[in-house]
Amino acid sequence: MRVFKVEGKYPLNGTIEVSGAKNSVVALIPAAILAGDVVILENVPELSDVYALNTILKELNVQTTFENNTLTIDATNVNYTPLIEGAVQELRASYYLMGAMLARYNEAIIGMPGGCYLGPRPIDLHLKGFQALGAEVKIEHGAYRLHAQDGLKGAKINLDIPSVGATINIMLAAVHAEGTTVIENVAKEPEIVDIATMLNNMGARITGAGTDTIRVKGVSVDSMHGCRHQVIPDRIEAGTYMVAAAIGVGEGMEVKVDNIIPEHMEAFLAKMHDAGVNMEVGMDSVTIRPTQALKAVNVKTGVFPGFATDLQQPFTLLLTQATGASVITDTIYSARFKHVDELQRMGASIRNEASTGIVVGPSELEGAKVTATDLRAGAAMVLAGLIASGITEIHEIEHVERGYERIIQKLTNVGAKIWFEEI
Ligand code: EPU
Repeated sequence: MRVFKVEGKYPLNGTIEVSGAKNSVVALIPAAILAGDVVILENVPELSDVYALNTILKELNVQTTFENNTLTIDATNVNYTPLIEGAVQELRASYYLMGAMLARYNEAIIGMPGGCYLGPRPIDLHLKGFQALGAEVKIEHGAYRLHAQDGLKGAKINLDIPSVGATINIMLAAVHAEGTTVIENVAKEPEIVDIATMLNNMGARITGAGTDTIRVKGVSVDSMHGCRHQVIPDRIEAGTYMVAAAIGVGEGMEVKVDNIIPEHMEAFLAKMHDAGVNMEVGMDSVTIRPTQALKAVNVKTGVFPGFATDLQQPFTLLLTQATGASVITDTIYSARFKHVDELQRMGASIRNEASTGIVVGPSELEGAKVTATDLRAGAAMVLAGLIASGITEIHEIEHVERGYERIIQKLTNVGAKIWFEEI
């Protein structure tokens, strides 16, 4: 079994380059099959989810090459294939193949998606959207079977919740639908804008991404073509390293988190500011210097432009080092608190009540054997290890590797002592 080991209390100093956004790229790759041509994606992170999607594309007879963070997707000979088992079950975002394949073939059979357990994660809104566009949805033998006998037709769809996944999936499905699709109460996350931008560069006609309403005018498959697209920076990876810097930067040193879009993380930066983090926000970077004392703050996660749920767990770790009592509420995933038990093991004064974490700080953390129960909980454990006394051993690191490209190398470059070990 592979684990991470972290020896704590090494001061951080230097620059961390942020990679391309995982949550964008996992939708951009399925979107690429809509062209039947060559799509070149730049700034693609080397992550297990990306490799899993490449495996799925092979099953669809799509050729890929992946070198130096550039992923070339040649969908010239893309073929319809049911995707019931195997790589499709390795990641949750494989559900974007539902929208993409429905758009292209009026048909899709996709095994139930995997991914992190954060409490119940239904996809009813995706399915309702497909149905509104004219697809029949069935669940058979653990797979979703979608079929639009008479092709997809534009419709007006109002989402009960501004779901990121449902917004993207319905947008994908509507690209070739006859007429115009209007999707209301959509999510506004930067990743949605990124995907709409690439689809438009491929010939789609999407307006309104980044607002509450997206309109998709259907275009024919033939009018789509390949393109070159640069993936936006990963705002969650960036926020995670900013927390690392805030708690770990050495005296007289600084950590620059580079290649970011600060406008994508304003709510997070505001809370970092409120917590007293000594930081300077530049055009495309944030530089963090030692802070006298971190202050307790209350945080509530929300849909974009609110405080991202994906940063709740890393930020909770920061709050263990702040003076006073903080309450952090997750309104998106009420059960995303598995990190609480693990942080307790390391000596944090923290408890979980319903959808809140209540943290009293500051706490001295001690190295322990802990588990990366999910991707962002795992990130919080790595950060905890950076400041804990002694050695922290983190199990189930495959969760962390799903979302953080070369995490060991990036942290080692700024002075952290972290390594893989086979135990
Ligand atoms: N929801 C429904 N029905 C649906 C869809 C969503 O009830 O059909 C609920 C969910 O249960 C949740 C809320 O709506 O309570 C928001 O879910 P959303 O659909 O927005 O999330 P998602 O698309 O499944 C993406 C990210 C997550 C991130 C959330 C929220 C990807 C691949 N995943 O998930 O990222 O937490 O949006 O921003 O884009 C992560 O990166 O660690 C991660 C889990």
